[in-house]
Amino acid sequence: MTTTAPQRLQPRLRLGVNIDHVATIRNARGGEHPDPVRAAQIVAAVGGDGITAHLREDRRHIRDEDISRIQAATSLPLNFEMAATEEMVAFALRHKPHAACIVPERREERTTEGGLDAAGQHNRLAPIVSRLADAGIRVSLFIAPEPRQIEAAMKLGAPVIELHTGEYAHAEGEARAAELRRLYDMAALAAHCGIEPHAGHGLTYENVTAVAAIPQLAELNIGHYLIGEAIFTGLEAAVLKMRELMDTAR
Ligand code: PXP
Repeated sequence: MTTTAPQRLQPRLRLGVNIDHVATIRNARGGEHPDPVRAAQIVAAVGGDGITAHLREDRRHIRDEDISRIQAATSLPLNFEMAATEEMVAFALRHKPHAACIVPERREERTTEGGLDAAGQHNRLAPIVSRLADAGIRVSLFIAPEPRQIEAAMKLGAPVIELHTGEYAHAEGEARAAELRRLYDMAALAAHCGIEPHAGHGLTYENVTAVAAIPQLAELNIGHYLIGEAIFTGLEAAVLKMRELMDTAR
């Protein structure tokens, strides 16, 4: 009798859409338009799996009231990106998002430029991770694809990591292939350690397929490119096209 190994079905790769830059455009004029809540509703209507929003210390895009408005307007899980500060922990505990992704934040940066140094900040992060987890919030750490950061996430008890894909997205040729291998290896290592790996930053129609093919990844979070494409094709079409590329990769 021959036995065949049971086939492991790959669960669908979730797409979280980061709507920060709808608020960036709104804030450029100081009014209410375009409203990030409307973007969240469109993402929900076309089958997006989650909404990601980063409440930055300087409130340059998403504002405090946007978070509760997004939570009230859609039933999609909210992935709340936050710096590891007391102000943001208190905010998360009041709003209880589905997930909180802890990101490094520097006031002068244009976007989240690097990963969180989970390895170097264990003592500072440990109480934050446990307070969020105790409130039922799924904690994720936005880290560079490095073994020591994954080990640190494991020691902190984070159930999720988000691998920073910025280096991959910005590299070309052989350097990009090397970054992709790093993402493959670190997604596998995270899964081996019992951590659910996500990925995001700088993903586009052109570079998403190779990342979406990494079998252990459960979620991609994509923002700037989608909001930029939405100017030309509409948000609905942009999300659908990204979804299609992700599905084709699997
Ligand atoms: N994931 C995290 C943790 C981020 O900080 C960002 C950028 O705000 C993204 C994903 C999305 O990156 P991008 O806007 O480049 O798609």
